[in-house]
Amino acid sequence: MNVKYAVIPCAGKGTRFLPITKGVAKEMCPIVDRPTLDYIVEECLDAGITDIVFIISEGKDDIKKYYSLDEEYEKDLIDHGKKDFADLIHKIATKANFHYVIQHEQLGLGHAVLQAKDVIKDNNFVVCCGDDICTYQGDSPVKQLVKAFEKVGGKTIVGGQKVKHENIVKYGAMGVQKQLDEKTYLLSHIVEKPKLEEAPSDLASLGKWVFNSKIFEELDHTPKGAGGEIQLTDAIAQIMKKEEVYYYDFDGKRYDCGDKLGYLEAIIDVALSRDEFREGLIRHIKSLKF
Ligand code: UTP
Repeated sequence: MNVKYAVIPCAGKGTRFLPITKGVAKEMCPIVDRPTLDYIVEECLDAGITDIVFIISEGKDDIKKYYSLDEEYEKDLIDHGKKDFADLIHKIATKANFHYVIQHEQLGLGHAVLQAKDVIKDNNFVVCCGDDICTYQGDSPVKQLVKAFEKVGGKTIVGGQKVKHENIVKYGAMGVQKQLDEKTYLLSHIVEKPKLEEAPSDLASLGKWVFNSKIFEELDHTPKGAGGEIQLTDAIAQIMKKEEVYYYDFDGKRYDCGDKLGYLEAIIDVALSRDEFREGLIRHIKSLKF
């Protein structure tokens, strides 16, 4: 049961992150020295994904530029004695097959995923939001979800974690029919951004899924839902009427990098995890007067 494709929607307006998103895609904002998006690409590669489909809006050429070969630039770096950097940028452009599909109108996450239909065809695939990164030990969250997808025989997996009760209103919330093991749940229903008193549980959908290609039939017919957008959650609710849908509670620390505070937390944690910055950064933080 191969999962070789990943779809990464990066075409959102990023209004929570204005003003920078007027000129720069939030997915390209750096976490230390790599774009946010590249941490998600690495998670996918850890799961054995070979083909990555970026859903981009018309102006987001910087994503394409980052993942394209640039032999002239490589040669220039080599000519200036910087072969290590030439190798680094060469590796980025060749680590997967990259595909780009334009979402002409920002009609929501479900609509963004639908744009990948002609590239994915009848393959199974992962979806990762382009602004949600994770730090982890061992298997990447995407790899954990792909393993769960294989275990349940190729049915939809919604990835997520339990959140504080008051925060569930911000996410897709899971209605559970049965818990299968410590991490896996069979779902009864799913509600996008529920009212607190109506949330079926505190299990939240956190920007990662694995689908078989049947999701496209549902997305084709999904009307606008919450916020006037075509919601991926609504298509999942439809597929649930036809076959089992599961939830997997993945291990890893997740950061919403579409939110300014989440982004800052990601930068600090990633920098602290790197030997070359750790000591200096701790010294700096300790020197601050709070
Ligand atoms: P968000 O919910 O963060 O929406 O999208 P947004 O429009 O990007 O940001 P805000 O709320 O205005 O600040 C989650 C992911 O889905 C993509 C985004 O790029 C992000 O990676 N997305 C969203 C699309 O690709 N197309 C859309 O129409 C909406």
